[in-house]
Amino acid sequence: MSRYESKDWKQSMKLRYDYNNMLLGKVDVESQHPSFQKKVGALTAQEIDAAMPALEKARLSIARKWGKPSRMMAWTKLPYNQKTVVRDILSAAKGIRKNFEYLVVFGIGGSALGPIAVQQALNHLHYNDLPAEKRNGPKLYVVDNVDPERMSALFDVIELEKTCFIIITKSGSTSETMSQTLIAFDALKDKLGEDSIRHQVIAVTDKAKGNLARIAADYGLKKFVVPDGVGGRFSELCPVGLLPAAACGIDIEEMLAGAAYMDELCREADLTKNLGYMAGLIAYLTMKKGKNIQVMIPYSDSLKYMSDWYAQLWAESLGKKYSFRKKVVHTGQTPVKALGVTDQHSQVQLYAEGPFDKVITFLGVDSYRTTYTIPTGFEGMPSLSFLSGHTMNELIQSEQFATEMALTHAGKLNQTITLPEVNAFTLGELMFFFEVQTTVCGELLGIDAFDQPGVEEGKINTYALLGRPGYEDVKKALDAQEKKEDKFVI
Ligand code: PA5
Repeated sequence: MSRYESKDWKQSMKLRYDYNNMLLGKVDVESQHPSFQKKVGALTAQEIDAAMPALEKARLSIARKWGKPSRMMAWTKLPYNQKTVVRDILSAAKGIRKNFEYLVVFGIGGSALGPIAVQQALNHLHYNDLPAEKRNGPKLYVVDNVDPERMSALFDVIELEKTCFIIITKSGSTSETMSQTLIAFDALKDKLGEDSIRHQVIAVTDKAKGNLARIAADYGLKKFVVPDGVGGRFSELCPVGLLPAAACGIDIEEMLAGAAYMDELCREADLTKNLGYMAGLIAYLTMKKGKNIQVMIPYSDSLKYMSDWYAQLWAESLGKKYSFRKKVVHTGQTPVKALGVTDQHSQVQLYAEGPFDKVITFLGVDSYRTTYTIPTGFEGMPSLSFLSGHTMNELIQSEQFATEMALTHAGKLNQTITLPEVNAFTLGELMFFFEVQTTVCGELLGIDAFDQPGVEEGKINTYALLGRPGYEDVKKALDAQEKKEDKFVI
């Protein structure tokens, strides 16, 4: 029996969402002048109560779309409907671990940020530097940019004949990923012969649409499907994230069990006790009060790249010009990534004393996977020796609490999400929680959280600049714009 099959263990791994420090009466402002209170924008119990009918309406609307590919809500089913896929992934992962020393993932946005965040969270923090026998799989490189220097550096550190490439693109046509694909195919053909492609490349893409699906069929590549109705940034719990994770020894079944548990928690009918719904509502209410920035500050290096993954989810889902009803609304909240305690020495000054335009989200951990005691020494220096005998665990947690208190005292809205520990189960919970929160917030804002029309123009301009057939007029318009006036270029 797996540990996640035990009810008690699951409950002991439940993540907590604490929004005390977003509330009037908790944030230290009551005795202050009304103009200061207004700036702080703490939420009142009445405001929350008044918003509950809208939240209930959002719940009903979301329930109607739940699981529907046509509404891009098929991600909600991923914890349950992948038994066969998971078996196939585990078998492919076993093959990768047996046959390869390097695993290169090509992908971008939703096809890369999840794999990066999960690898950082669940594997050794210096995974690639460990000797092979101490690693759970091949060295992993997720290449999510088209910087020529990075591509060249990749080929300096891998040995082509020992490398498996996983190409991930839902659309199968993203220029960045497809240019990387051309490079890998060319290198493999050139060095190892055309047949090596079939043995060393795996595709993760749409079942039929797009160039990668065609290439996979032509070359007979092993292929995993991104299910219909699962958008890029909601795709971590399908083969997009599960395959690279499993190849590096991560327990993907436990991740899915964690997501299923969070799904259960987010079905709580009393919405005041529903984590995902309350987090979505609180975010929505703070946006209404002009909090345009959302800072995420994990107090754990393992969760560092969760902020990157979340930044895409939050920015691309909620940053919208039009409402469902086609009204111009310009919604969104700018995500900012920080790391505790590192950024206490960099950004926290701004958060404490700068403008009241932010919400700070702390990501904390109850129990770190290791304990490190600070040794004794320098007994003659009390201002240093007070640290001795404490653990680094106590130090990082005290610094988190101290910063929460300082920000609260300064009237800066903050909230805390706590993981009992970082493991595959809690990570599945966390990701599913954020996906629900984003969906709920989008619903309350009255926008489509699942499209991204704002990135289209840039893509089209790139096609035109690189001469893709059909984009000649765009190219002409861009060429005309490029003739800038010299006096404005210094
Ligand atoms: O969330 C999204 O849909 C996007 O960020 C995509 O993940 C990103 O553009 C990459 O797309 P694709 O997987 O089609 O290459």
